[in-house]
Amino acid sequence: MRKNIVAGNWKMNTSFNEAIELAENLKSLENTFDKNTEVIVCPPFLYTKTLIDIFYDSSIKVGVQNSASNEEGAYTGEVSAKMIKSINADYVIIGHSERREYYCENDEILNTKLNLVLKNNLKPIFCVGEQLEDRKAGNHFDVIKSQIINGTFGLDKEQFANIIIAYEPVWAIGTGETASPEQAQEIHLFIRNLISEKYGNNIANNISILYGGSVKPNNAKEIFSKTDVDGGLIGGAALNANDFKEIINSFN
Ligand code: PGA
Repeated sequence: MRKNIVAGNWKMNTSFNEAIELAENLKSLENTFDKNTEVIVCPPFLYTKTLIDIFYDSSIKVGVQNSASNEEGAYTGEVSAKMIKSINADYVIIGHSERREYYCENDEILNTKLNLVLKNNLKPIFCVGEQLEDRKAGNHFDVIKSQIINGTFGLDKEQFANIIIAYEPVWAIGTGETASPEQAQEIHLFIRNLISEKYGNNIANNISILYGGSVKPNNAKEIFSKTDVDGGLIGGAALNANDFKEIINSFN
């Protein structure tokens, strides 16, 4: 069956020393984490290797928040999937709404990134989510459907089986407002059904679909209790080791 996963997205937060302290705090709490949950931490690029070294004897996995849409070469400031693999990171967040919105990453670019990440044997966490206007207009299903189809359905079965999806309604990110557990379940099931139509039941049932958007210790249990919610992509609450631990331990 599919894995429960809790991934922390630190975004552009923490100094180097704060990152080390947070990682060490997490490591010291690790023996209290639910053993059936895959725990992933995605720090800013600059600290990735340091965290990999800190977690070398731990089950906590390290990911990054983005990767380049080209393989290598003259792309100033970019970090390629091959480089990420070369330091033994495991996961890459692709298509976070902040990347889509502030860095103009469209479905085509994201699809290219996804292919490069898979080619380098990294595990993508592919994010989708509607804006508030889409939900108000009742277009949320269409938006999610086109993000999933255009972003991921070019993959073959074997590739698709290696991805993780994160549903993050943009209106719930960093706003303190979460989707209700029912709203999350509705979209997660919708995504799983789309996957099932394209790749079959077996793959659909084994893909982990995470929810993201203001998940906190006080709402994680209710959200994670939903059948098609397999964990969370956590922003703000991942910056506090105790809050992150409580979220990790929120599966029934
Ligand atoms: P948040 O962020 O938990 O701070 O809302 C979630 C995310 O953007 O992944």
